[in-house]
Amino acid sequence: AAIEKGGYDHFMLKEIYDQPQSILDCLRGRLNPAAGTITMNGVDNHLNALINAQRIVMVACGTSWHAGLLAEYWIEDLCRIPVEVEYASEFRYRNPVINRGDVIVAISQSGETADTLVALENAKEKGAFIFGVVNAVGSSIARLSNAGAYTHAGPEIGVASTKAFTGQLAVLVMMALKIAYAKGTIDEKKYQHLLTELHDVPEKVSQILKDTSNIQAIAEKYKDATDFLYLGRGYNFPVALEGALKLKEISYIHAEGYPAAEMKHGPIALVDDKLPVVFVATKDKYYEKIVSNVQEIKARKGKVIAVATEGDEIIPGMADDVMFVPDADETMAPLLSVIPLQLLSYYIGIAKGLDVDKPRNLAKSVTVE
Ligand code: G6P
Repeated sequence: AAIEKGGYDHFMLKEIYDQPQSILDCLRGRLNPAAGTITMNGVDNHLNALINAQRIVMVACGTSWHAGLLAEYWIEDLCRIPVEVEYASEFRYRNPVINRGDVIVAISQSGETADTLVALENAKEKGAFIFGVVNAVGSSIARLSNAGAYTHAGPEIGVASTKAFTGQLAVLVMMALKIAYAKGTIDEKKYQHLLTELHDVPEKVSQILKDTSNIQAIAEKYKDATDFLYLGRGYNFPVALEGALKLKEISYIHAEGYPAAEMKHGPIALVDDKLPVVFVATKDKYYEKIVSNVQEIKARKGKVIAVATEGDEIIPGMADDVMFVPDADETMAPLLSVIPLQLLSYYIGIAKGLDVDKPRNLAKSVTVE
């Protein structure tokens, strides 16, 4: 097992560190910024079905559902196709409206999650086109799909998903870019810029992983908190949800993710001098707004831990603690801002002496409903 962990103490840490390579593996042979192309057979062979989709429905569970939520932001923004994001367990039972011409995107690391699988079977019977974004090659969901793209993250052993998530994001953003380009809903210059930005992601992830001593110190400082709030806006909102989920899974600390502006409708009542609030606050079009949200928390004596863009001085000046990520176009920022949150959960779990690879009550793949 020590060899399988590649010298790391845990699979989770190894898999976090795998990410520069696993994302690269996902992009390899597909993304070519010099030629201005993305090659994905599953998409290329069904381009018409995707371009002409009246609606795209993301169906998934857990971390994969968060990837689906990000895909909603990407596809609506870049492709101008309406998207819905569904928990598979709800979708399968609530008699959803599915029309011919709907595209269902199934997102699953294992390809075996029972709720997702049955939801897809039902949708397929009703005539939906199923596109699978799956990590496990040859899995049930991969076989059921009409088309798909593998995430190529390699085996993921740690129960809490890390590299499979960033692989899902890489696939979904490439899909969005391809559809947008084919539909003409993105201009040439922006398309080219985003290809280059995506190409730069693995190198930027390496930079984040180079020195994590700061994140370890933050973990020590906050490990005894009983609750955490995670806030973000726009592309960073799904990242806040994922950060909160990671913390719950690994450290057993109660954590809630929320859209930053929505906090005033409830979570703000929880804020006191003991509550750590994690802001995913990289430089994007919401930056000014997130700055005021940070002020609102500080005014109520909450402790602010911020994920901020290198070179930013405003958020770090207000926050109690900061985890920096390299500058990136906001479209690609989630692939970076999630990394410190994975590490924060890992190190808090370790600081509490917990079994981070096999957290209590959780299963890697939930094959029963
Ligand atoms: C379980 C795992 C999660 C995963 C979820 C969905 O809850 O512990 O890490 O996100 O299932 O699994 P899937 O394999 O369908 O992505």
